[in-house]
Amino acid sequence: MAKPKVLATRPLFPAAQAILKSACDAEYWTKPERISREELLQRIKDKEGLVCLLTEKINSELLSAAPKLRIVANVAVGYDNIDVAECTKRGVVAANTPGVLDETTADFAWTLMMAVGRRLVEGDTLARSGNWKGWDLDQLVGTDVWGKTLGIVGFGRIGRAMARRALGFHMKVIYADAVRAPEALEKELKAEHRELNSLLAEADFVSVHVPLLPETRGLFDAVRFLKMKPTAYLINTSRGAVVDEAALVQALENGKIAGAALDVFENEPLIHPGLKRPNVVLAPHIASASIETRTKMACMAAENVVALFQGQQPRNMLNPEVLKAK
Ligand code: DGY
Repeated sequence: MAKPKVLATRPLFPAAQAILKSACDAEYWTKPERISREELLQRIKDKEGLVCLLTEKINSELLSAAPKLRIVANVAVGYDNIDVAECTKRGVVAANTPGVLDETTADFAWTLMMAVGRRLVEGDTLARSGNWKGWDLDQLVGTDVWGKTLGIVGFGRIGRAMARRALGFHMKVIYADAVRAPEALEKELKAEHRELNSLLAEADFVSVHVPLLPETRGLFDAVRFLKMKPTAYLINTSRGAVVDEAALVQALENGKIAGAALDVFENEPLIHPGLKRPNVVLAPHIASASIETRTKMACMAAENVVALFQGQQPRNMLNPEVLKAK
């Protein structure tokens, strides 16, 4: 029997290719440039499965172009690129990759926090410039991270992984989340719950770990920045649109906050020119980019596809009701 046809918009990694090969006839987009929308709409026509990246919009246009499609497997935990309701309406399974990138993403959020607090990028620039005149007492003095107050906005898996790291740095941890964590976990992580505005008023570093939802879009706006301490830093490894970038630029320009470290942006790959300043550390959406984690993410997406075609329930379904209805 012919295997189901699957399109992957990137070559993935050999381990993920091997998983797909076991049950699918997989076609990979291998050119260095990204697959164009036209090419994607063309190639998806006869496919039953799609392994895609967060840069591809899975909406009614794409779903209409793919009448045979049964599953969309995102190689990402965030899935704001997928219209899940539209997938559900059409009986298409949507899946993501939760759990495998938490520690790697928290490592990187921590790296950003250290980098902006201790002015690492400015130091690197000076060290390479040929203009360094040697040690000086007040040269590139930053701010301590250890012993400070870390405000975690969004206390899911990644937020909690941040809290665990903070224990080793003797930081006070406060968190804001619509759902309060169990008391035992708060105790274990020495984390105290706060309303968001109280957290902003108290934290020295504010690290954002919420998904992009209608209610979190633009969560960090001009009013929120006014609540933060002028000595505080914003760290964002979640989604760019959680922050109103124009408002952030204003807050930085007017000294309402001390700096920011950002891995994600409102209109990737565009970066607001006002963010290109010394007290902002910029990274190109690489918080989960370790070879171990990216391989796990690709394998998990491949496993989700294979599971469906082998008659099982994919482990990471975003719309399990699709299979229940059958
Ligand atoms: C995700 O998975 O949502 C990240 O943004 C990329 O790892």
